[in-house]
Amino acid sequence: MPKTKTIFTCSACGHETGRWLGKCPACHAYNTFEESVAIAKKTIGRGHAGGGRFAPTPSTGTSTRLSEIKSIADEKFPTGLTELDRVLSGGIVPGSLMLLGGEPGIGKSTILLQICQNKPFTILYVSGEESAGQINLRAARLGQFGENTYILAESDLAAIEGEIHRLSPHLLVIDSIQTMMHSDLTSAAGSVTQVREATAFFMRLAKERGMATIIVGHVTKEGAIAGPKILEHMVDCVLYFEGERHGGFRIIRAVKNRFGGTGEIGIFEMDEGGLKPITNPSEYMLTGRPLDAPGSIITCAMEGSRPILAEVQALVAPTKAPNPRRVVSGMDYNRINMLLAMLEKRCRLYLSQADSYVNVAGGMKLTEPAADLAAIAAIASSYKNKPINPETLIFGEVGLTGEVRAVNHTQKRIDEAAKLAFTEIIIPQANLKGIKRPGGVKILGVANIGELLALILA
Ligand code: TYD
Ligand code: MG
Repeated sequence: MPKTKTIFTCSACGHETGRWLGKCPACHAYNTFEESVAIAKKTIGRGHAGGGRFAPTPSTGTSTRLSEIKSIADEKFPTGLTELDRVLSGGIVPGSLMLLGGEPGIGKSTILLQICQNKPFTILYVSGEESAGQINLRAARLGQFGENTYILAESDLAAIEGEIHRLSPHLLVIDSIQTMMHSDLTSAAGSVTQVREATAFFMRLAKERGMATIIVGHVTKEGAIAGPKILEHMVDCVLYFEGERHGGFRIIRAVKNRFGGTGEIGIFEMDEGGLKPITNPSEYMLTGRPLDAPGSIITCAMEGSRPILAEVQALVAPTKAPNPRRVVSGMDYNRINMLLAMLEKRCRLYLSQADSYVNVAGGMKLTEPAADLAAIAAIASSYKNKPINPETLIFGEVGLTGEVRAVNHTQKRIDEAAKLAFTEIIIPQANLKGIKRPGGVKILGVANIGELLALILA
């Protein structure tokens, strides 16, 4: 009999204790502890990862010269999807464990099946959610699959381990980690204990066998509960799917990558044949934008090494309510509140007597302060009910006194705007020095938000 011990785990943050607690001392959530039976680690799977190139630490007790260790990053294999390879800095590393998170229905299973296409090695795709028949239906929409892709509809870890030993796959896909079960644990599938134990189990197998492993983690709307967040520190690489489930495009972003950078994003479009890479994102983001409508302006954001154009929209409507509504999507809520307060104080726009809605079109998220100036322009344009020239593009950071501050990658942003036929670009004054001006494009510098409003609402 394996050695067991009762433990209590907080389902919000994963904190473990030996007794039940009403309030979690780590995250202060109430009633989140669940009981489970932990098994001494040795009895799960095939023990700890031993030595070898893929093991986290060599077990021999002797050290190796750094210069003599062969880089496992050189053995990366491309996924075959250009936008995904960009996010992964080239491809997947053998023996690595990767977590792919995202809301249900966003396209995780679809992209993983696409990765399985046309590979020269054995792949085992384990689904605890769908039957083999359902996966086959999806595969039929995606096109051709080789003889070496195996599907297993199973959620029991012991059974999956048996199949891994039989097939020795080069790539293992687990869809999803929330459905995996270790039968010696009493807690339900999807509980913190099961999810953690299953991840540790696949981590050991991946390192022992040099088998690349991708696990899917559903992100629930409420956020943390037994979701991918509690696994981020365990795995080598964490990717998240963003975007609107019902909207056109999906973005994959790396938040952690032990074998490459995390700056780049991958942009895809879901159509009837699966996820397709979007190679000209700026053009894509601008399709269908209104011309000559108040409250709409284009900005240029840097996503990794790529400049991407995005449309910022605002709707400002007067209200008599004591607490006006403020709704923001695609930008930081607190930052927009700050910009609204600044416009009120410095430019005398009475925004405390108006409902304000700010939105980035197409489900895109702008996290850079360089988008500040565009938000200011969109809000002021809607407030004054005056459209901005549709051939104008704006970027720049705004400080608390209303000053416009310099941003990085000015030239790249200007060139991207010029490529898409913008004829007027408004940038921070401090960025004017030394820039190359593309032919036919007027570049104007502003030092504060007053100057910006005078320019666009003249
Ligand atoms: P899915 O990959 O199952 O999402 P997840 O695994 O993240 O829960 O499916 C995403 C959605 O995409 C689903 O509603 C069906 C749709 N879809 C397409 O539009 N085209 C396709 O070719 C496929 C396979 C799915
Ligand atoms: Mg799925």
